[in-house]
Amino acid sequence: MTARKLFVTTALPYANGNFHIGHIMEYIQADTWVRAQRMQGNAVNFVGADDAHGAPIMIAAEKAGKTPQQFVADIAAGRKQYLDGFHIAFDNWSNTDSAENHELSKQIYLDLKAAGFIESRTIEQFFDPEKNMFLPDRFIKGECPRCHAKDQYGDNCEVCSSVYAPTDLINPFSALSGATPVMKSSEHFFFKLSDPRAVEFLTEWTQNGKHVQPEVAAKIKEWFGVRTNPDGSTSEGLDDWDISRDAPYFGIEIPDAPGKYFYVWLDAPVGYLASLKELLKRRGEDYDAYMADPDLEQYHFIGKDIITFHTLFWPAMLKFSGRKTPTRICVHGFMTVNNGEKMSKSRGTGLDPLKYLSLKMNPEWLRYYLGAKLNGKNEDIDFNPEDFMLRVNSDLIGKYVNIASRAAGFISKRFDGRLGQVSEDGQALLGALREQQTAIVAAYEARDSARASREIMLLCDKVNSYVDANKPWELAKKEGMDARLHDVCTTCIEAFRILTIYLSPILPGVAAEVARFLIVPPERFADVVRPLGAGHQIGVYQHLMQRVDPKQLEALFEAPAGQAAAEPAKAEKKAAKKAEPAIDPTAPGGEPLAETIGIDDFAKVDLRIARILECRAVEGSTKLLQLTLDVGEKDENGQPRTRNVFSGISSMYQPEQLQGKLTVMVANLAPRKMKFGLSEGMVLAASHADEKTHPGIYVLEPFPGAQPGMRIH
Ligand code: MSP
Ligand code: ZN
Repeated sequence: MTARKLFVTTALPYANGNFHIGHIMEYIQADTWVRAQRMQGNAVNFVGADDAHGAPIMIAAEKAGKTPQQFVADIAAGRKQYLDGFHIAFDNWSNTDSAENHELSKQIYLDLKAAGFIESRTIEQFFDPEKNMFLPDRFIKGECPRCHAKDQYGDNCEVCSSVYAPTDLINPFSALSGATPVMKSSEHFFFKLSDPRAVEFLTEWTQNGKHVQPEVAAKIKEWFGVRTNPDGSTSEGLDDWDISRDAPYFGIEIPDAPGKYFYVWLDAPVGYLASLKELLKRRGEDYDAYMADPDLEQYHFIGKDIITFHTLFWPAMLKFSGRKTPTRICVHGFMTVNNGEKMSKSRGTGLDPLKYLSLKMNPEWLRYYLGAKLNGKNEDIDFNPEDFMLRVNSDLIGKYVNIASRAAGFISKRFDGRLGQVSEDGQALLGALREQQTAIVAAYEARDSARASREIMLLCDKVNSYVDANKPWELAKKEGMDARLHDVCTTCIEAFRILTIYLSPILPGVAAEVARFLIVPPERFADVVRPLGAGHQIGVYQHLMQRVDPKQLEALFEAPAGQAAAEPAKAEKKAAKKAEPAIDPTAPGGEPLAETIGIDDFAKVDLRIARILECRAVEGSTKLLQLTLDVGEKDENGQPRTRNVFSGISSMYQPEQLQGKLTVMVANLAPRKMKFGLSEGMVLAASHADEKTHPGIYVLEPFPGAQPGMRIH
């Protein structure tokens, strides 16, 4: 069989926030699939990128006082720790503001134009006269035309759920400036999806059973039918798609149309190709030749919220610009935590992937748990802590790892670490394991890792029954049973190797450790047919995986530290809650500014530069780090005096990251007795009011030149 050539992507995340658990789920699903392909010897290029453009990012950057480029670069800098942490191995990670993407997006547009698919039309839209810009629906607010709830967004009412156009709002205002928007006309460019050629192509493409799951095809079909518009009229077929936005806009300027930019969703999927192009260029390979291969397969993994873009707009853009259309759009459902129960602030913020890692929870537990739930269908899946613990502990530890730990010691101690002969009953068992290769590979291919893991666990059960029937620990005590003991333990190790190969797309980290322990090179699925064989030397077994500890799960869902000087006493906690600002997503940092103060009020707060001499984890606390700070002070004997400060920042920083760094502290804050000792001040750290959408707490660091003890004015 010749190797398949695959180009695989995941959706490009908006570069306005850190990854959340939903992103990680998508990457784990795709990464598992890619690894399963490589295990079959197929050649895969797996790429991702940040989705950099659009009005929300432009506005967020402005609020943060950064250029959009800098804003996006700062977000991008935080990606690696998540990807490495969960063993997600993209071949390239780019962003849609790259030179490649500018060029490709323009070329695709020009090709569409040449094919007669672009039309310009003048439309009327809300314009903010103060900000001098057209307002995206999300940035227009006003009174709901139906239920008269105040402060509703331009597209739908959060109180009565009705959907309307921004022009229907009563007393509309700009969420950016507060100004009353005016209607202004402007020329826009449209992609003519209403063209019969597009309708015909997309009907066939989405409904021929080849490119999307059946449940997805059924959903798409509804969009082609007769629809009732908000104004009561009806339409059939597809609407044209507005692909341009007016300056100011962070995006790609449209050729021959100064001041007009591509709408972010036009250039975002082109980013898939641009990231691939960048990768191939780095390797010295030719992009055009690669794409021209008719056997190349193109797979996009996405969530159910962005089906329209990937099953209508994107294939049409590719088709009518004369390019290769996707082979498959793989749609997954949404991940919820604790049955989608809205987490109260006090109970935590869902499942924070970085916190998971910082608690030293094994990333492969999550990969396995999600793998065991994902079945290739567009269905939501829920993370349930008890279920997670049970699944991981009983399957991975109880069934799988157990096999190696029961046999390896005897091989090392009694047989010099060498494998022996496998007799008939062992051969039969290994044969049964090998027989499942086709079924397991097929399950992976269908993205049904749930079925793959089920099959593999059934095989683990078989091996464990064999161990229970043969009781190596008893054989070890009996005279003259050495050969049988060697045979049984060898069978276990051979079986364990096969099971590891089967599990390796889900558990790449464990598989790598097992390869070291068994002293084998990286292996493929096909390698299960040949044994390690008698005489093969194995290494010393070291425990492969810990059980999930309920304490870790408790800590994972524990309320995040509200402030840098965390864990105040109960009474203070209560007071702090009262003072907690109301979340307002349109305000800077998610909360309205505090009331105005005079310079005298500010002077009361003595802020000083401090050097973090030491930084340690605090035993018994998942939030705090203990800092020893030098603020340039001396004691009565003229000896340097340091301060002890507890800070609720351990979800973000490893102690060694902070050691030696300068920061800013409140030096005249009354010392406070805490559970872990006296805290003599507070270091400054920034966080967004809405920890759910913007998790993270960031310690301040001064520019070079500042010295411990200097006051901040
Ligand atoms: N920028 C667009 C995609 C452009 S693709 C050319 C976007 N970004 S996103 O950050 O909002 O979402 C990225 C991916 O994460 C999407 O596939 C989305 O479906 C997925 N998820 C977002 N929340 C999710 C869950 N709660 N669960 C699973 N996936 C989720 O859309
Ligand atoms: Zn309403």
